[in-house]
Amino acid sequence: MKHLLKLADLTSEELIHILDLAQQLKSQQKQGIPHNYLKGKTLGMIFQKSSTRTRVSFEVGMYQLGGSALFLSSRDLQIGRGEPVQDTARVLSRYLDGIMIRTFTQKEVEDLAKYGSIPIINGLTDYCHPCQVLADLLTVREYKGELSGLKMCYIGDGNNMANSLIVGGIKSGMEVAVACPKGYEPDSGVMDYATANGTFTLTQDVKQAAADADVLLTDVWASMGQEEEAAQRRQVFQGIYQINSEVMEVAKADAMVLHCLPAHRGEEITADVMEAHAQEIFDEAENRLHAQKAVLVSLMGNQ
Ligand code: CP
Ligand code: NVA
Repeated sequence: MKHLLKLADLTSEELIHILDLAQQLKSQQKQGIPHNYLKGKTLGMIFQKSSTRTRVSFEVGMYQLGGSALFLSSRDLQIGRGEPVQDTARVLSRYLDGIMIRTFTQKEVEDLAKYGSIPIINGLTDYCHPCQVLADLLTVREYKGELSGLKMCYIGDGNNMANSLIVGGIKSGMEVAVACPKGYEPDSGVMDYATANGTFTLTQDVKQAAADADVLLTDVWASMGQEEEAAQRRQVFQGIYQINSEVMEVAKADAMVLHCLPAHRGEEITADVMEAHAQEIFDEAENRLHAQKAVLVSLMGNQ
């Protein structure tokens, strides 16, 4: 593994290895055992969109691993004024040991990897959010013991989270059921992959997708960059594509609920379900740190 551009690039063994390493790093951190595997290494973090969790967890993760992180806002970089990504990649490769980028197009991330000579980590594009889903899988595994054989249900927009959850779920042996409105389906290539490699269903019926689920996930109806579509999307999703107590009734009695956050209570998830599952959801947020430290060590470590 040279980069983390999307989960589809990882073998199931590589995915499980990252989760195992994340668990080990988490336990070292909790016990106060030094784990400065990236001493002297610097990660550049390019942000073309807002972030709370990704920014803070990567920065703290690098610090805990003995390295350092640079926050690079596209508002300040020449890339924001049109300097080509091909040039930015080659310049930053001379200074840094790795780059985490959050941007709009997947192509920009793939181009950074193509033209640069250091590991590139996708911190969210319109297409996928691999770091979040590694944290999600880590959280499910902590609560349920293992992933294989579980049923994952995603309700909502067929967005970056849906795409990564489908790939991550299938790669770890889960059954994946998605409920989303017509016209808002996940990426067709992702769905073809899921159908060919596991048990995948797509429906517009929320309760059908949620039936007997072990873990339910959702995400905002309008993602970053879709602000102008928010009102129209609300009309399509409102009152249907939501995790609420009625939906929870058809899931397994011990079903987990996860949300990548930020959450819009009363839209994709009700406040009562969110609060009832706050422990899982904030463990999931914490696990961004541990999962990403495993990615950083795997890509930038010396071993
Ligand atoms: N879930 C997630 O990626 O959060 P941020 O947008 O705050 O980084
Ligand atoms: N789908 C959301 C995820 C935020 C972490 C977005 O792209 O805005």
